[in-house]
Amino acid sequence: MRRFTVTNMSQVELTTSYDVDAIRADFPILRQTVHGKPLVYLDNANTTQKPQSVIDATSDFYTRYNSNIHRASHLLGELATEAYEGARDKVRGFLNAGESHDVVFVRNATEGVNLVAQTFGRQNIGAGDEILVSEMEHHCNIVPWQMLCAEKGAILRTIPVDDNGDLILSAFYDSLNERTKIVGITHMSNVLGTVTPVAEIIRAAHSIGVPVLVDAAQSAYHIAIDMQALDADFLVFSGHKLYGPTGTGVLCGRKSILDAMPPYQGGGDMIATVSFAKTTYNDIPYKFEAGTPNIAGGIGLGAAIDYLTAVGLDNIAAYEHDLLEYGTQKLLSIPGLRILGTSATKASVMTFVLNDIHAQDMGTLLDMEGIAVRTGKHCAHPVLERFGVTSTVRASLGMYNTKQELDALADGILSVRSMFG
Ligand code: ALA
Repeated sequence: MRRFTVTNMSQVELTTSYDVDAIRADFPILRQTVHGKPLVYLDNANTTQKPQSVIDATSDFYTRYNSNIHRASHLLGELATEAYEGARDKVRGFLNAGESHDVVFVRNATEGVNLVAQTFGRQNIGAGDEILVSEMEHHCNIVPWQMLCAEKGAILRTIPVDDNGDLILSAFYDSLNERTKIVGITHMSNVLGTVTPVAEIIRAAHSIGVPVLVDAAQSAYHIAIDMQALDADFLVFSGHKLYGPTGTGVLCGRKSILDAMPPYQGGGDMIATVSFAKTTYNDIPYKFEAGTPNIAGGIGLGAAIDYLTAVGLDNIAAYEHDLLEYGTQKLLSIPGLRILGTSATKASVMTFVLNDIHAQDMGTLLDMEGIAVRTGKHCAHPVLERFGVTSTVRASLGMYNTKQELDALADGILSVRSMFG
């Protein structure tokens, strides 16, 4: 049984009926009103809401078997270890990674990239070497590399994007060369929604022996990912965007590369033996997991994966694609509104500006209508600069959003527009 990697969202079809009301009923937070209006939560690219099963899984851990993992010789410790390692197995299955030990638990996608930069990067990248990232990266896939470049004298090069928000692939091929030591690429832009051709990028980079890190923070909860088909060397995502708890994330890597990397942080669980004469390190993934981890969070992430799997990533992708098309048409019918990111391979994000209305004003006034959006630069300053804007409004979709909510968004924007004449 293998999933495909979606490269063109219009190819996705809803295979079973999608009961959005039943899904909404699983998310208790959606039942509330905000400023006296029903909550319309459209800030999913920032963080998603949690189904009851995730809330229950974390609270069940604290209620019934709270204990440390890998260290306790008692029943509660065994139960906790089993549940935590069970969650790792679920992540492996979710990504179709080779082995569960290829899955390293981290705090979030950002920590995953930092881990790779500070271990693989410091070990393999030196003066004059090049790191290649795209112009539409989130800061988490820019700043760790800049820090490494400053330390090592390496050079950070960028792949530009065109006016639609697509990568200019010819520039990628022009920039890829024998000095390139790693390519870091987002699978889906948090501002433009562009789903990038990661499979092609990985193939091209591998053809000259260059490893690739995929930032799947924005894609993992919209698009099914197949680690083995992609052949990515590293892939990171955040649990809190995947309908899971905050403070959870994953770095999934190629075993041979992870084995060769030095540890990230020192402390408990990452060692095999310690003496003042010599310390030896544990095997992967524990070599990279110093200290007591977010056990409840990891177990909650496992529950989130169960939930996503039950609904079906391909069903979610198809449902959200329909919503995105509907929402895009609604927004484009508003005079003066400009959407950033019009790629044909786009998912679940609508970022816009409207005349000279400040994004913060728009966000605040929409909030008064119960509509939650994100405003500002979205931790992706370079791509905003590329499109010549300093601040934008972003409505981003999750599996529980509805067309009625997008109607409410459009009505809210029209009402803000009328206030500004
Ligand atoms: N939380 C960040 C966003 O909103 C990544 O896009």
